[in-house]
Amino acid sequence: MPEATHGLSADIDRLRTEAIEKLAALTTASNAAEWEKHYLGGKGAVTALLRGLGKLPADERPAAGRATQALRDELTGAFAPVKDRLDAEALQQELAGDAIDVTLPGRVPAIGAAHPIAQMTDEVIEIFALMGFQAVFGPEVETGRYNFDLLNIPSDHPARDVWDTIIVDTPNEEIVLRTHTSPMQARTMEKIEPPVRVIVPGKTFRYEAQDASHEWQFTQLEGLAVDKHITMADLKGVLQELARQLFGPERKVRFRCDFFPFVEPGVDFSVDCSVCNGKGCRVCKYTGWLEMGGAGMVHPNVLRGVGYDPDVYSGFAFGLGIERLIMMKYGVDDIRAFASNDIRFLRRFASVTI
Ligand code: DAH
Repeated sequence: MPEATHGLSADIDRLRTEAIEKLAALTTASNAAEWEKHYLGGKGAVTALLRGLGKLPADERPAAGRATQALRDELTGAFAPVKDRLDAEALQQELAGDAIDVTLPGRVPAIGAAHPIAQMTDEVIEIFALMGFQAVFGPEVETGRYNFDLLNIPSDHPARDVWDTIIVDTPNEEIVLRTHTSPMQARTMEKIEPPVRVIVPGKTFRYEAQDASHEWQFTQLEGLAVDKHITMADLKGVLQELARQLFGPERKVRFRCDFFPFVEPGVDFSVDCSVCNGKGCRVCKYTGWLEMGGAGMVHPNVLRGVGYDPDVYSGFAFGLGIERLIMMKYGVDDIRAFASNDIRFLRRFASVTI
């Protein structure tokens, strides 16, 4: 054989030995892809040999071409099973990585809980239901007539200034966001004849600067009972029962004179502090008492306004703040916490942990 062909067959032998050796050492599918590109690819070593054939003398080309082609077939044949094995291994590994381990504990879904205001409202509705009171709900946007006039607060009365009112509109008469739940007193009495026993939980609104004890929007609970022979003693009994159900069986209720245009006499009522048993502590500011709300005997003008005869019927009414009840019961010291949506605060009241 001429020299040139000898040189080529030596190249072929070297390439074969090297390629077979490297093929045996392949361990991953990506190594295999590199091997294939390096030896059998369009710009690979075997292709380079084939390209080089053109430089050989014409009579040597056929034999050299067959030898190079044989190398190509041999390497292609040797590569196929290795590639299959490594691809299968890679697939196996991928499947194992993605597999779902059904023995792992599941993720606990986040479950919400009722807001503390909703919880306290429900609790109070239940306490009053056992005393024969029905819960009714009224509009949050009210007319001046129900929010003030029918509660014995005429528009020229200075007491109107006590409620810092958010006025929505004044087409013919004032339209306001209700400043208290008291407008439902007249709305209820206009609809039904005595005996009346209702409570009214709901949102109320005041044009007010916010601080730790004032919110511009808060929640009230109104109470109203009208019948023959209702007295102040009934009022005190009902409020005492509320205090005992909420704060414990030992609780006492105190009345002090106060003024509200829609009651006569009017009082504010307090419960003795359950933290110190009335002795005085930080929670009750060393007074022994926690103020709960206002109350009194329904003013004859209010009864007359809805067509009830004050010589036949009498009644009591009261109003208290739901947020305040929660603050008293759980020692919350900032009313703004209720609307701030801080999950750490809300979690304290979640019966189901989130
Ligand atoms: N509506 C009053 C307020 O928001 C609270 C109140 C006081 C309601 C005395 C009453 C009551 O029913 O008799 O300030």
